[in-house]
Amino acid sequence: CGIVGYTGPQSALDVVIAGLRRLEYRGYDSAGVAVQTAGADGQWLLSTDKRAGKLVNLEKSLAETPLPAGTTGIGHTRWATHGGPTDANAHPHLDDHRKVAVVHNGIIENFARLRADLTDRGRTLRSETDTEVVAHLLAEAYDGDLAEAMRAVCRQLDGAFTLVAVHADAPGTVVGARRNSPLVVGVGDGENFLASDVAAFIAHTREAVELGQDQVVELRPEGVTVTNFDGTPAEVREYHVDWDASAAEKGGYDYFMLKEIAEQPKAVADTLLGRIGTDGRLTLDELRIPDQVLREVDKVVIVACGTAFHAGMIAKYAIEHWTRVPCEVEVASEFRYRDPIMDDRTLVIAISQSGETMDTLMALRHAREQGAKVLAICNTNGSTIPRESDAVLYTHAGPEVAVASTKAFLTQLVACYLVALYLGQVRGTKWGDEISSVIRELGDAPRQVEQVLGTMEPVRALARSLADARSVLFLGRHVGYPVALEGALKLKELAYMHAEGFAAGELKHGPIALIEEGLPVVVVVPSPRGRSILHDKIVSNIQEIRARGARTIVIAEEGDEAVVPYADHLIRIPVTPTLLQPLVSTVPLQVFACELATAKGHEVDQPRNLAKSVTVE
Ligand code: G6P
Repeated sequence: CGIVGYTGPQSALDVVIAGLRRLEYRGYDSAGVAVQTAGADGQWLLSTDKRAGKLVNLEKSLAETPLPAGTTGIGHTRWATHGGPTDANAHPHLDDHRKVAVVHNGIIENFARLRADLTDRGRTLRSETDTEVVAHLLAEAYDGDLAEAMRAVCRQLDGAFTLVAVHADAPGTVVGARRNSPLVVGVGDGENFLASDVAAFIAHTREAVELGQDQVVELRPEGVTVTNFDGTPAEVREYHVDWDASAAEKGGYDYFMLKEIAEQPKAVADTLLGRIGTDGRLTLDELRIPDQVLREVDKVVIVACGTAFHAGMIAKYAIEHWTRVPCEVEVASEFRYRDPIMDDRTLVIAISQSGETMDTLMALRHAREQGAKVLAICNTNGSTIPRESDAVLYTHAGPEVAVASTKAFLTQLVACYLVALYLGQVRGTKWGDEISSVIRELGDAPRQVEQVLGTMEPVRALARSLADARSVLFLGRHVGYPVALEGALKLKELAYMHAEGFAAGELKHGPIALIEEGLPVVVVVPSPRGRSILHDKIVSNIQEIRARGARTIVIAEEGDEAVVPYADHLIRIPVTPTLLQPLVSTVPLQVFACELATAKGHEVDQPRNLAKSVTVE
């Protein structure tokens, strides 16, 4: 969910709505606002509006029935956890006397008991949410000091949450609390902001304060006070946000996703920048894990979710090949629950665009408890996952807004290759020569991605022609297998179609039964050079599916003539070393899914039921 709070001289509603627009990527099931306004009798009261559906529904409602003006307010855009996306379940939630309004991100795990206690005390709860209990608890605890009431309430809550509240009797004050889920303060001149992400207030201020674990912040126009849940003064980190607001705008494209696909050459180049020395060796000084420790690592474990998990699958091939260190990769949500084996010689790599994904955060915490070293690969400076890791290698994709990840994925791949190559470099493996040549070829990746982007028109036409297909399968081998999974994920996310990725060799063990006349099957073909046996095997797999009626869409290297007779559609990609091929083979699959979803009339930036940053487990 996305949260915004404001206090200062401006119209709180305007600031909050503009902020929510920037945060809609965090959820868009419903949206709501609460503003402190002066009543007819001069008493302060809370004016609210909230609507199911996207932010525009709320904006329409506010245009029809405007709220009175006010300069202190809060807002929320929701990704539903407890209770469906209805008007009643939308945030803010209020207590019985409409004194307190609260918005929330996360899950309050002991809410059922708190709710029962409140009902026993005669309170009326109007929604199915876990959040509403906090409004009632705050109203009960309030005794002239909202921050103190918030601290008292937080001490009763279990789970991971951020809360932001206003009270009718505390004009000009906004209070926030943070346990695990993100919350950042924007420090202005005579005004202050609170949000899940700096994007919400970057148009007003670039000065930010990051809240730590179990902290409460009190915001007034003239200042900000941060305390721990026990009331002691808290230590916070101030920082300057160095990306600008226009980076988060669409820049002339119809969708953020199109813009972000087009930005990939630059994102890849920026992520490589300064990391390859003139002598062709890697310099990753920022890793902060001494080379000696990296030499002693005897196992690498990668944890991530969604698209980042696919980057991790590809990293496994690279790490095991170039370093000869065993590498496991696992979806973060499964990891800690199976009691994985780790010790101080285990290097855990947590990959996350947002740096806030709760599943990944919990996995890395578990790893550190077991003594493992954790390296984060992350795109968001100062977010929770890098802060809680031993080291971080930032990807430099810039802000990614579209829910379906594209440029962040390519930069995650680059970062994974850099880590694999660096490990190989410091440990000295038999692949020394290959490592130097791959480092050189990696430097060429931005140009190659650009080249692929320049040839996408036939892919778009093909995608449009498949808008009515019921299902699309994706096949790959080696690093092409995770690429196939990513191609299928993109299509599910964006086009809401049945799509599945398989290891091409596994097809004959079951899924081949799905093949019927005309079924589109995308095949990612490895390079015929190097591991040519892999190439030959997949050419056989293409023949097997074609013999059973599949319509084959083949992604193959320039100059690979062996696939030509079996390809109903051929998509060419530049010649690359096999392990680096995902940098170019993924791009047509992104374009394919985006165009197909557009042809179906879907909103590609905000697919149904999803959120970009999922801060619940
Ligand atoms: C969500 C998004 C996915 C993303 C995943 C991991 O589920 O919808 O697109 O891949 O989270 O996000 P992260 O920020 O950790 O990379």
